[in-house]
Amino acid sequence: MQGSAPLRGRIQIPGDKSVSHRSLLLGSLADGTSRVERFLPAADCRATLGAVRALGVEVEELSPSSLILRGRGLRGLQEPDDVVDCSRSGTTMRLLAGILAGQPFPSVLSGDAQLRRRPMGRIAEPLRHMGATVLGRDGGQLPPLTIQGGALQGLDYTLPVASAQVKSALLLAGLYAGGPTSLCVPGPARDHTERMLTAMGVRLEAGDWGLVPGGQRLRLEPGSPLQALDLSVPGDFSSAAFVLVAASLVPGSEVLIEGTGVNPTRTGLLDVLLAMGADVVLEDERMVGGEPVADLAVRASDLYGTEVSGHLVVRAIDEFPILAVAATQAQGETVVRDAAELRVKETDRIATTVQELRRLGAEIEAQPDGFVIQGPTPLRSPEFIDGQGAEVHSHGDHRLAMALAVAGLIARGETCVQDTDCIADSFPGFATALTKLGGKVR
Ligand code: S3P
Repeated sequence: MQGSAPLRGRIQIPGDKSVSHRSLLLGSLADGTSRVERFLPAADCRATLGAVRALGVEVEELSPSSLILRGRGLRGLQEPDDVVDCSRSGTTMRLLAGILAGQPFPSVLSGDAQLRRRPMGRIAEPLRHMGATVLGRDGGQLPPLTIQGGALQGLDYTLPVASAQVKSALLLAGLYAGGPTSLCVPGPARDHTERMLTAMGVRLEAGDWGLVPGGQRLRLEPGSPLQALDLSVPGDFSSAAFVLVAASLVPGSEVLIEGTGVNPTRTGLLDVLLAMGADVVLEDERMVGGEPVADLAVRASDLYGTEVSGHLVVRAIDEFPILAVAATQAQGETVVRDAAELRVKETDRIATTVQELRRLGAEIEAQPDGFVIQGPTPLRSPEFIDGQGAEVHSHGDHRLAMALAVAGLIARGETCVQDTDCIADSFPGFATALTKLGGKVR
């Protein structure tokens, strides 16, 4: 609603999605029992939970967010007796493919229609170089994937994209290789896998790759067993991002987001918002489970247009739908470039974000590798008549759905976001969290 009441109070954001996936996958390969607290019980992470169970791993759910995981060691996984269902989760499929490439049995990975459109050649090709057989539709590019693992060799490889999923898949396959795996990553892709593997006792060197700003160079030595985990998952910065932007935009807001992960490979949006003039302060910075964590104190403020490009894009890769909403309210022009990866996310996020924000009156133009937004524009439905508001669509994309809901908070009239079940892919309780802070969300 336009003139939504200020958002005020403290909230805890649910656990980090990337870290939750990795806790299950790596904990499954550990020797011994792992305990995971503040696990994210979202649909994507539950897909990983189902997948590791299908591989013979016993997982006890003390509560939806508190798990006990009986690791089977590097060589203890069992052949699944059916297709492994990754649902809509790209992280599940890509990281699991790395592990399965090292197993002496065949497996098939599939998922729903959205996931079956996402590119898998980026993992399939290097895994083939390591010695695995990886088959897929469209010449091996698309799911379902059939993987026959076996004796892998080490790899020396430069990733064509700065993707944490590709990097992680290759590191996980590298655990099974006959020699070291060396990777050059052309940007600061999130490093949760490296942090967790190192904490579990794997020999992994990580440094800067001088050739590309923010680039990473990694070398993993196989052969060490993985020690079990005892982990409390930090709050997901990518979920906090919706609250950060909502509180920045709704006048009079003042919110404390407690216990949020602030791993620098994830906080690009924070840097962008600060450059736009946002009022966000990190309080009580600390380490939790090998990850930096802080409380984020945010107050409403005027925003100004900015430019986002280069490795900042990698550090904010999941945040562009909500960044676009912020930019519609910023004074001046916001330009996003070098972000062609957005076209292969859950949806083509350049196309879907532009299409849906335009319905609300935003001045936003798509570019091949980003978008340009002029602000500030009052958001409202072009069909807005007599208090009837706009209808916008999530396209089944959780982050677009939440970004549109935040747009709805500042738009004139009631905004109806269609197809919001997908929000449960990453942020169950999103609407309740906004309501608790004073937002009018049904
Ligand atoms: C993720 C990596 C990113 C991100 C995705 C989660 C991960 O994808 O967009 O939401 O957990 O490794 P890419 O690695 O494809 O950039």
